[in-house]
Amino acid sequence: MREDKRRGRDGGLVQIERMIEVTIDGAKVRVPEGSTLLDACKKRGIDTPTLCFAPNLTPVNACRVCVVELDGARALVPACARTAEPSMVVHTDSERVRSARKMVLELLGSSVDMSATPNFDVWCARYDAHPERLGTPSRAPTVVDNDLFVRDYAKCMLCYKCVEACGADAQHTFAIVVSGRGAHAKIATEFDVSLPDSACVFCGNCVGVCPTNALQFRREHELRVAGEWDESSQSVTKTVCPYCGVGCVLELHVQGDEIVKVTSPSDSSVTDGMLCVKGRFGWGYTRDAK
Ligand code: SF4
Ligand code: SF4
Ligand code: FES
Repeated sequence: MREDKRRGRDGGLVQIERMIEVTIDGAKVRVPEGSTLLDACKKRGIDTPTLCFAPNLTPVNACRVCVVELDGARALVPACARTAEPSMVVHTDSERVRSARKMVLELLGSSVDMSATPNFDVWCARYDAHPERLGTPSRAPTVVDNDLFVRDYAKCMLCYKCVEACGADAQHTFAIVVSGRGAHAKIATEFDVSLPDSACVFCGNCVGVCPTNALQFRREHELRVAGEWDESSQSVTKTVCPYCGVGCVLELHVQGDEIVKVTSPSDSSVTDGMLCVKGRFGWGYTRDAK
């Protein structure tokens, strides 16, 4: 691949971003080389549903809810993973795309509890999806084996995001994997031991990327069970983690006078959206100080 370089102000060579042009729903869009079709759709102002995709993880194409139609391609392609190439012609709202997205939403919603998945209802309405016509998800008990987060696997859509965040994409702890096959597949620790007995270091990066709320802060879980979780009343304050000198960006989600969860923006150059146990969970002292 040809590298475009020019002299910068200091006389050194700097990389120039090469732009390519694709057509999305009839309009030309220019995006930097290496962008995905999802990036191009975003630039065109098109809201594409995504579940297994996260900007800070390697795409795994597990859910296919983002599929688009590409001229010349036999099958629909996942927008989140397909790299945009010059002169591609893409359709995001054709009959094939609408019907594929509807099927994905119905299959997911009939087998997994998507009630706490942001936007799921909005997408179902948009694509006229009625998961209940295929059945309703079975309930599995929520696993509460530590003070920091719970695992409600009735809400797990096996998107692999938690496994990626725990593994090679971020944490490199490899405490969880997908075990079993087909209908018996599930996220598990080694030898299915409880999290405290596993290699888990409780960074909560799996919680941070989970799209369905299958992994939930313990406090969020308690408030939801009590019917007191109220996202509309919550404020989000950006700050810097007080613990060490790295300077991780924190987003404190506050309900009433209580920090109920902590996240970090996925586009932060310091954290890439990932935190350690102290930054993610170590804010109990704000309560205990009262
Ligand atoms: S809390 Fe961190 S170490 Fe533990 S399972 Fe989640 S990502 Fe892995
Ligand atoms: S627990 Fe969450 S992140 Fe992990 S596979 Fe299930 S839905 Fe995805
Ligand atoms: S979001 Fe693209 S395949 Fe899941």
